[in-house]
Amino acid sequence: IPPAKKIKIVNELNVGKASEVPAGKGKIFQFNEDKVIVVNSGGTLTATSAVCTHLGCLVNWVDADNQYFCPCHGAKYTRNGEIISGPQPLPLKQYSARIEGGDIIISK
Ligand code: FES
Repeated sequence: IPPAKKIKIVNELNVGKASEVPAGKGKIFQFNEDKVIVVNSGGTLTATSAVCTHLGCLVNWVDADNQYFCPCHGAKYTRNGEIISGPQPLPLKQYSARIEGGDIIISK
């Protein structure tokens, strides 16, 4: 049995400059054991798990539709991660994001 991979779990993480996530865009960061997409929509940041609850592909943010879209089998989620349509069984997990000193901080 291989040793368990040690991941240091943190409550929050500074992922860098807010300017890295321009309006209308999403950017994915590793946060603990999850991949989190930070979206800047109209100047408001949201942080949501980017891992589709169907089979684990990474979702994209589609600003024009105000929703997440999974390119693998077409799952759609609202900005808050709720299911719109598709094969996924569960919503996307939600996190918090804030700007502090020009940096984005993701928290649980
Ligand atoms: Fe996202 Fe199948 S993995 S829809």
